[in-house]
Amino acid sequence: MKRIVSGIKPTGSLTLGNYIGAIKQFVKLQKARENDEFFLFIADLHAITTRQIPHELRKRTLDIAAMYLACGLDKERTTLFIQSEIPQHAELGYILQSNVYMGELERMTQYKDKLESNDVSISSSLFTYPALMAADIILYDADYVPVGDDQKQHLELTRDIANRFNHYYSDFFTVPEPLIPEVGARIMDLQNPEKKMSKSENNPKGYITLFDDEKTITRKIKSAKTDSLGIIKYDPLEQKGLANLINIFASISDISINQIVDKYKNSDYKTFKEDLAKTLVDVLIPIQLKYQEIINSNELNEILDKGRSIASDYAFKKMRKCKRKIGLGRK
Ligand code: AMP
Ligand code: TRP
Repeated sequence: MKRIVSGIKPTGSLTLGNYIGAIKQFVKLQKARENDEFFLFIADLHAITTRQIPHELRKRTLDIAAMYLACGLDKERTTLFIQSEIPQHAELGYILQSNVYMGELERMTQYKDKLESNDVSISSSLFTYPALMAADIILYDADYVPVGDDQKQHLELTRDIANRFNHYYSDFFTVPEPLIPEVGARIMDLQNPEKKMSKSENNPKGYITLFDDEKTITRKIKSAKTDSLGIIKYDPLEQKGLANLINIFASISDISINQIVDKYKNSDYKTFKEDLAKTLVDVLIPIQLKYQEIINSNELNEILDKGRSIASDYAFKKMRKCKRKIGLGRK
């Protein structure tokens, strides 16, 4: 039996990028790996590395939990929980800060991008974020971590931290492996295909959220930036915008990029976009209906209580051993 662990930050609305790069992967893995265990959490401690409005943060945390379930996660086989409800994440995160170097944290692209954005108020927790992320993962001895491409670097650092700890204190943490989808690991902004699709982006035309209605989805796909070549082929260098749309189409309908190109090679962009929008609507609208059912039920709280109890049990035992190993406290 393997354990699979992943998380999503409750900042902004969930985007199609989150769905394709992370949630859909998770659901797929769950179907394929019947004997494995799945831990999934909402990373609210990560969210507060940038300023959040308290009532919005709480609402989004529950929204994401409900959305995970609406996207097809098997509630019987998932330990779904909220990161801040398990204090051992922060405790281990602090310990791991002593096992990671400034230079390593300074090399993280996500942090460097933030520095370049000239934001004057970068919190120190944003800088040490990868130590907390490593804690989220190795606290549960995760074997695999399904994430989008943007988290690859953080996963590599997690492995380094786990190895370093194991080397100094003797084997203790499982060293996790990232699982990054072959197609759809990096969904790009619809207006600027040089940038990844992100919920913190200012221009809403660039991203589709899982809450967008039919009209909005269709409009955003219609206005997605392409090129003036007018030929449907997969060329991520010369036709970045179109390649991104082909990627989205392939991922959402579970067919290969070649099959999409084959089907549309004699079509124009307009027809291609109309079909893509329709496919997206057919996938997203049922998810939204399911989400409405879940968010308005009591079940969500019950699932989160159960998740907290299972995660907490594991985390408590692991941290007790961990502190003993390090020499903290009285044994
Ligand atoms: P975040 O919303 O930053 O917490 O990301 C949650 C998960 O979604 C992570 O596994 C990310 O790698 C994934 N993700 C976020 N944006 C994208 C994107 N544009 N394309 C693919 N995966 C993404
Ligand atoms: N850092 C991830 C992101 O921004 C979210 C996250 C936090 C995560 N802890 C994690 C993902 C542990 C996987 C495993 O997307």
